[in-house]
Amino acid sequence: MTANSERRQALLDQRYGKQIQPGNMIWNDQIEHLLNHRSVRAFLSDPLPEGALETMIAAAQSASTSSAQHQWSVVAVSGEQKTKLHDLIAPTVPMDRIPWIDDAPTVLLWVADISRSTAIAEAQGGDPIVHNYLDAFLLASIDASLAAQNAAVAAESLGLGVVFLGMMRNAAQEVAELIDLPQSSFVTFGMAVGRPDAKRPSGVRPQLPQEVILHRNRYQHDGLQDHVSGYEDAYRDFRETWGMDNNTWQDAVHRSATSMAYMGGRENLRDTMVKRGFKLR
Ligand SMILES: Cc1cc2nc3c(=O)[nH]c(=O)nc-3n(C[C@H](O)[C@H](O)[C@H](O)COP(=O)(O)O)c2cc1C
Repeated sequence: MTANSERRQALLDQRYGKQIQPGNMIWNDQIEHLLNHRSVRAFLSDPLPEGALETMIAAAQSASTSSAQHQWSVVAVSGEQKTKLHDLIAPTVPMDRIPWIDDAPTVLLWVADISRSTAIAEAQGGDPIVHNYLDAFLLASIDASLAAQNAAVAAESLGLGVVFLGMMRNAAQEVAELIDLPQSSFVTFGMAVGRPDAKRPSGVRPQLPQEVILHRNRYQHDGLQDHVSGYEDAYRDFRETWGMDNNTWQDAVHRSATSMAYMGGRENLRDTMVKRGFKLR
């Protein structure tokens, strides 16, 4: 095996464990980079390198955007404002301190933002009735998500690490007020970004095999049951390697689906969205 093929096989081993792996991968540097993703939750407090933020945002602005409407914004939070953000979110999660918010030099708040489109339509005497529908909310959320993922990939290519922070929605209205968001916008999620602390590394998490995720022409309804025990093995091995408690994946899924504690305040999101100007019809 050449060094290239060994490295690439190691990436597949980490992503799928001993489950069935795709045997016909077409490799290049970019694919390797994508497969090497892992969330980082241990950061050095060094500021982002000069130009890193702008580079990430240029990458974000290179993602597709529905109907070229650019219905997203991003607020880069650091310093005292980041401490306030941390203190808003900490009471909504079962931990006193959220190190990946505390330590990371910057938290990016990705905003689903139809405020500009609303203002432009109204400035021309129009009534932006299309924004009254659920689809407007979804469209802006998708735009923000695609932009953020491009930024994440860019950050990782610069040697930075990121973790997405859905927990920002636990206090959606308070976060919006903290950063002075206009009506018709909300923070879909945050993203802590910074230099990973090499002394506290994280690993590539195994994923379900493609047999469960990739459907051809029609959805295969029985795919999961055939493969779940193999995935549990990969999941257990990952947790053992990284010193995590030995819950099963199905237990974790069950808890997330059945415990209201998992919501951490997000059960109120619909009311907050309506208050923020999304009518969600
Ligand atoms: C939209 C979104 C929100 C997330 N929110 C959080 C969060 O609030 N806290 C956290 O620690 N990780 C969060 N994550 C990270 C996921 O837990 C992580 O991506 C997943 O476990 C897979 O691990 P990996 O990113 O290392 O592959 C979030 C991920 C996404 C996509």
